Amino acid sequence: MKVGNTHYRSIWPDDSRRGVHIVDQTRLPFEFGTVFLESRDAVAHAIRTMQVRGAPLIGVTAAFGLALAMDADSSNASLEDSAALLNATRPTAVNLAWALKRAVAHLVRLPHQSRAAAAWALARKMADEDVATNAAIGELGAGVIRALHAQKQDTVNILTHCNTGWVATVDWGTALAAIYKAHDAGIPVHVWVDETRPRNQGLLTAWELRQHGVPHTYIVDNAGGHLMQHGKVDVVMVGADRVSRHGDVANKIGTYLKALAAQDNGVPFYAALPVSTIDFALEDALGDIEIEERDGEEVRWISGQQPEAKPQHGRVSPGESGPGTAPVLGFGRLRLLDEASPAANPAFDVTPSHLITGIITERGVFKPDDVAALESAP
Ligand code: MRU
Repeated sequence: MKVGNTHYRSIWPDDSRRGVHIVDQTRLPFEFGTVFLESRDAVAHAIRTMQVRGAPLIGVTAAFGLALAMDADSSNASLEDSAALLNATRPTAVNLAWALKRAVAHLVRLPHQSRAAAAWALARKMADEDVATNAAIGELGAGVIRALHAQKQDTVNILTHCNTGWVATVDWGTALAAIYKAHDAGIPVHVWVDETRPRNQGLLTAWELRQHGVPHTYIVDNAGGHLMQHGKVDVVMVGADRVSRHGDVANKIGTYLKALAAQDNGVPFYAALPVSTIDFALEDALGDIEIEERDGEEVRWISGQQPEAKPQHGRVSPGESGPGTAPVLGFGRLRLLDEASPAANPAFDVTPSHLITGIITERGVFKPDDVAALESAP
């Protein structure tokens, strides 16, 4: 992740095992600041409140949370309890359960006195693996963009929804990794960026693309179909939070509508994700994925910066601050809807496999029907 001229990851442990540093995504894009998490409960809070978010990143963060729990509990009696507590922070992205299951399976076989060190080592390993996995997804996804460019011989216009970039992972991202790699390889790209409600995560994407120098335009969620009808989108590339063994994709709310518009307009639609996002036990995505229902307050209010405050886009805050103490200049909330109307806030939807052209993973680009084979493949 490039912020100014400095390279960051979204999460990194301190050397003394006191805690783990995260980029506080609730302050982006207004300010780039970090938070130091020193306990399992602080990690759980950070995931729940979306200071860290994005399917791959919440998995790795939870693994560090388990390491902190192991350090705090000398009897190590709380391994399963801590894993259950962390797993309950967010229900939809399967990477969270995947990472915790992997950590518990590894730690439970070890003597109690070795578990804390092993938990830290595993969390670090998972963070490094995530970076390598996403770099591989990026290379393969860039191949898809390269092929489109070879056909078109002009700038490839890519529509992406939500944020699938550096800050959704430990580094690189998934769908955005493909865009970064294509841009770095000299393929001319332009990105239509959305997810303007409910979470405004398109703002994170625009911020990242700006840092990396990738041409982009921010649009409201409802603009995608119109742009596709007018030939202004060559491909849609999104991420995923959970994928069924049949290739149905749960992703940020609104993804399904993009896929419908893409099919109606003959625009290819790709989801980019690590194999750890595939829930091989899941047959019925629509029936069996728990779609997170977030607080209606998130849609009653909107957050932003007052017009008189200067944007702090690239600014790195001088020190760390605790949760909720971000001193962002002129940052505030505005109420949109009062209590008189009920508000619902489903956070994800499911795009059925028949609307998906391909699934880009670190192991190759697959037809949705073919992802189940990855369960047994090396
Ligand atoms: O609610 P979030 O922000 O955790 O959801 C993130 C998304 O839906 C992303 O599109 C998806 O996780 C892919 S992240 C590489």
